[in-house]
Amino acid sequence: MKKLALSCAIAGAMMSLCASVQAAEPIDPIEPVEVKNPALVELGKMLFFEPRLSRSGFISCNSCHNLATGGVDNLQTSIGDRWAQGPINSPTVLNSFGQVAQFWDGRAKTLAEQAAGPIANPLEMASTHEMAVKVIASIPGYAPYFKKAFGDAEVNIKRITEAMAEFERTLVTPNARFDKWLKGDKNAITQQELNGYKIFKESGCTICHNGAQLGGQSFQKMGVVRPYKTTNTSEGVKAISGRDQDRMTFKVPMLRNIELTYPYFHDGAVWSLEESVSIMGDLQLGKRYTKQEIDDITAFLKTLTGDQPKVEYPVLPPSGPNTPKFDPWAKAQTK
Ligand code: HEC
Ligand code: HEC
Repeated sequence: MKKLALSCAIAGAMMSLCASVQAAEPIDPIEPVEVKNPALVELGKMLFFEPRLSRSGFISCNSCHNLATGGVDNLQTSIGDRWAQGPINSPTVLNSFGQVAQFWDGRAKTLAEQAAGPIANPLEMASTHEMAVKVIASIPGYAPYFKKAFGDAEVNIKRITEAMAEFERTLVTPNARFDKWLKGDKNAITQQELNGYKIFKESGCTICHNGAQLGGQSFQKMGVVRPYKTTNTSEGVKAISGRDQDRMTFKVPMLRNIELTYPYFHDGAVWSLEESVSIMGDLQLGKRYTKQEIDDITAFLKTLTGDQPKVEYPVLPPSGPNTPKFDPWAKAQTK
């Protein structure tokens, strides 16, 4: 089934060929992950919620990737250190493990590589890797957790990011109604939702939004048929490759739990799912959908909301005598 889905994606515009392959859908159900090292996941969860990894002692990964709100902050762009205005919309951490790369422009290959970014990003947590290690090592209550996860209590940035990545790997959202339908429960979605899926598939949305995540597998231009107008200055993949033709090329976002992860697009400019569907049809496929078609596709997209991870809020160990005293209002360092 995976293979067929892939060949459908490659077939691209030849969607009729794709539809004729019986039972092959361009979308796969998402499955729960097997936890191999529960101690590493537990430590990663603590670190994901750990505000002392930030300069202010206040911002954690969960501040911007709130697990109570679909793994995002539901803001146009994120708020970082000293209320800094972030440059781009925060994508969800839910199901992010299965993507080809992390970040809108794919500049991190793995989740562990990704996690090193925000800790030291001056617009986000604004700490440094040295400081993060020093802080965690100074909290006596962490030692047993590192020991259990890694065999000894040494704290380093590689271990911190590895643990976070292992926790994030568990943040999958199986059992969406659409997955139940994919697995054969024909009553799991309504006729309208099924209509929406057919339009989604037949008009070509699945050329880019396919696989188990309905995205996260390729980089595509935003504005294939018509340019996308935005005041956001992000250049997408061009920022990495330096090539002009990569301007406005972004990692295709996943559409799992899309009902929860508004506002939409890299600039977070669109708050309604209907409007984002309409824009996608127009700019990516040159299609002007009727209101009915937009409503149907939107209804389908809402069947992609799965079971949200049941995360028991971790109790973090208190600071030790050598843990720095945080001062969120300390004068900004001048270089
Ligand atoms: C201040 C808000 C903020 C904080 C704090 C933050 N992030 Fe993010 N995160 C973002 C934004 C914004 C992006 C997108 C940046 C980009 O693509 O250039 C992002 C991207 C990501 C991605 C990539 C998702 C994808 O689909 O590409 C992951 C995974 C992630 N963050 C995990 C973390 C972890 C782990 C931490 C804690 C170490 C963290 N984030 C802290 C705002 C934040
Ligand atoms: C050519 C590839 C391509 C096609 C075809 C395509 N998309 Fe997209 N889609 C993207 C890219 C790239 C983005 C991110 C654009 C941005 O943020 O600037 C995106 C973003 C989205 C978003 C917002 C996701 C988020 O988290 O912000 C939705 C919803 C969406 N697409 C739905 C659709 C629908 C529905 C269709 C069919 C009408 C479709 N897409 C067709 C590439 C595509």
